Amino acid sequence: MTNADFEKIVETSDEWITTRTGIKERRIANGMATSDMAVAASRAAIEMANVSHDDIEMVILATVTPDYRLPSAACVVQEKMNFPNAAAFDIVAACAGFINGLSIVSSYIETNKIKKALVVGVEKLSAFTNYKDRNTCVLFGDAAGAVVVSGEEGESGIIGTYIKSEGKYRTLLWAEVGGVVNPYTEGYDYDGRDKIMMNGSDVFKIAVKEMGNATVKVIQDAGLQPSDIALVVPHQANIRIIEALAKRLKIDMNKVYLNIDRFGNTSAASVPLALDEANRAGRIKSGDYIVMVAFGGGLTWGASLVRW
Ligand code: ACO
Repeated sequence: MTNADFEKIVETSDEWITTRTGIKERRIANGMATSDMAVAASRAAIEMANVSHDDIEMVILATVTPDYRLPSAACVVQEKMNFPNAAAFDIVAACAGFINGLSIVSSYIETNKIKKALVVGVEKLSAFTNYKDRNTCVLFGDAAGAVVVSGEEGESGIIGTYIKSEGKYRTLLWAEVGGVVNPYTEGYDYDGRDKIMMNGSDVFKIAVKEMGNATVKVIQDAGLQPSDIALVVPHQANIRIIEALAKRLKIDMNKVYLNIDRFGNTSAASVPLALDEANRAGRIKSGDYIVMVAFGGGLTWGASLVRW
């Protein structure tokens, strides 16, 4: 969907969307379930990592848009992909879900409980977006990204991960109806409260502050400086948030990977999608330090420092 498509359905303009967010297009996964997108990304990751399906011992799927209320989308993916030896579960940490997933699998691998895991960030946000609300509908898109994390000897790997949440901010970005507190009742008139609702300007301010803090923390904890970082792969929510992050870190924007113009905000899929594009485009070399950083509903945030 392009900005021109949105001009036809809500009172907005290409100029407003571009200057306020940096978004030009988003992908809509018509006819696909969340698990279908996750399977496509998982296949590509398994192939790229050249690992056997039997070796995957954990499948973590980060999403706020699972196929069903029960079971987890991770279990659907496990069956479709055939990972006979894996524990599979979803995590709900919105846009920071992928970083939370990396944090969990790296702990399991570091403590030798498992050797190989698959972490998927996937969202079908189009199923969860109120296309009458111009404050939110122009922002979101659908996507999936996946990585294989493997315990190997050597210099490269996940150096450090930091995750944090602040539940007191939960109503800044939420879907009020559809859970146990406010279930769908007969006669619910679809006023949009079952879709994503957001106080954008408050979320924006906290995002700038906490994405910066999380990034600085993982860099400092590793005894490094921001100048040591070859590439920052941030959650793609708003170009102005990303520019503010780069300014805080005193990192040039050419060391920050951007694809928000083509995908919009894809929540948990955003970071692995950007990571894969950056890698395939040759933006990451062996030995490079990269930082992935994300922020989302909960509120949740986190960063992960990786040596490639
Ligand atoms: N087109 C035209 N005007 C619009 C649109 C639109 N699509 N959307 C909002 N406006 C209007 C508002 O109604 C408001 O008008 P008013 O002043 O007459 O009331 C005006 O534009 C300014 O609105 P603000 O909310 O102040 O705009 P802001 O500069 O904050 O940008 C945005 C809004 C893009 C949502 C920004 O706040 C943002 O990106 N916030 C952070 C989003 C984020 O990071 N979310 C976290 C992850 S999402 C997840 O976890 C699923």
